[in-house]
Amino acid sequence: MNVLVIGSGGREHALCWKLAQNPRVSRVIAAPGNGGTAREAVNFPVKDDDIPGLIALAKAENVGLVVVGPEAPLVAGIADALAAEGIPCFGPDAYAAQLEGSKAFAKNVMRAAGVPTADFEVFDDAEAAKAYIRRQGAPLVVKADGLAAGKGVVVASTVDEALEAIDDMMVAKSFGAAGARVVVEAALAGEEASFLAFCDGENFALLPSAQDHKAVGEGDTGPNTGGMGAYSPAPVLPQEKYAETAELVIRPILTHLKAQGHPFKGVLYAGLMFTKEGPLVLEYNVRFGDPECQPLLMRLESDLLDILFACAEGRLTPDMVRVRPETALCVVLAAPGYPGGYPKGMEITGLDEADDLARRDPGCKVFQAGTAVAGGTTVTNGGRVLGVTALGADLAEAKAKAYELVAKVGFTGCYFRRDIGDKGIARSKK
Ligand code: AMP
Ligand code: GLY
Repeated sequence: MNVLVIGSGGREHALCWKLAQNPRVSRVIAAPGNGGTAREAVNFPVKDDDIPGLIALAKAENVGLVVVGPEAPLVAGIADALAAEGIPCFGPDAYAAQLEGSKAFAKNVMRAAGVPTADFEVFDDAEAAKAYIRRQGAPLVVKADGLAAGKGVVVASTVDEALEAIDDMMVAKSFGAAGARVVVEAALAGEEASFLAFCDGENFALLPSAQDHKAVGEGDTGPNTGGMGAYSPAPVLPQEKYAETAELVIRPILTHLKAQGHPFKGVLYAGLMFTKEGPLVLEYNVRFGDPECQPLLMRLESDLLDILFACAEGRLTPDMVRVRPETALCVVLAAPGYPGGYPKGMEITGLDEADDLARRDPGCKVFQAGTAVAGGTTVTNGGRVLGVTALGADLAEAKAKAYELVAKVGFTGCYFRRDIGDKGIARSKK
């Protein structure tokens, strides 16, 4: 069986790595892939938003399952197009993908399904949004409705900041059509965690909790990025709370979407804020998180292909997802300047030694993200370049092991946070 993985990040390298471990998989194909997927799979230069190109590739390569990494192709309807061709797909249809593609859609579904989330209003008109902001007062959060690569959210501590965000999104249109509609919601305070579930349209099987590090700087300072590191489990959401949390934030969404005629198949990712009143949903993603996927897959004991097929075919059971008890932690190595402008094409050292180590110790792996192979050399090709991931008996050990591995790889100007995992370590000591 041939499997096609769509995307080019660290998440997709991890997916290819895990899928290649199944002996029934003859070939893993990545489109467009990166320098890391080239080591586990075969790359085809088809972009992740080229739906006709991806369908043609899946047919030409006789693909038995398509695994969609990023949100853009899901929102654009890749699952619907594959269904029309009779090709199994892991990922929701375009209707259900609006959970991530439209913040207004997501908030309205949460309201209808009774999922706890911050109070909100949706606006298509800048003046109406501003009047609401002045009435509510700060702090408030202003969100562009559409996909904005994680940059369309402004947490405003003053009314002026919130008004400025409206001007930026709705008047100056800095996010294009994505900002024509906005959600204005109450600001929440607390610690965040990611909670992901495999879903087959009706049933779900939980993954363990994880925590991302969105800010570029240590101590969660500076601008937001796609994620500078992650670990699993996250002590803020311990295992004994998984079942009740799932009833609160996963089951109601599956029930609602099924009733709408669009059963959700794929990974449903709830971004949670643990407030004093309990967990509230900040956002849904309709795919694995990046970098959360890297530590989660390192902990996954069961075969990934079996789970993904069970999701695509509607026969998932919770016991299909077995997870190692250890903690896994991923440190992202970024290009200098990220998340602003950054150089590309810098040679990356230490990758072959890291791969040798990974063969000896499956609890050590350097996942590649923004990389490419040029003339036999792996070079940087994006902002987030590597996801150095390690498994340890506890969070402190996973952290120590991951940073040991970080020291073995690098490139000119390589930047990483040194405090990945610290929030969890502090909480475990409480
Ligand atoms: P989102 O894409 O909706 O998850 O927002 C991105 C980030 O903005 C979240 O991870 C939070 O750190 C922050 N954020 C979003 N909504 C809120 C909120 N209602 N209150 C406080 N922070 C928020
Ligand atoms: N790491 C957050 C995300 O994938 O959206």
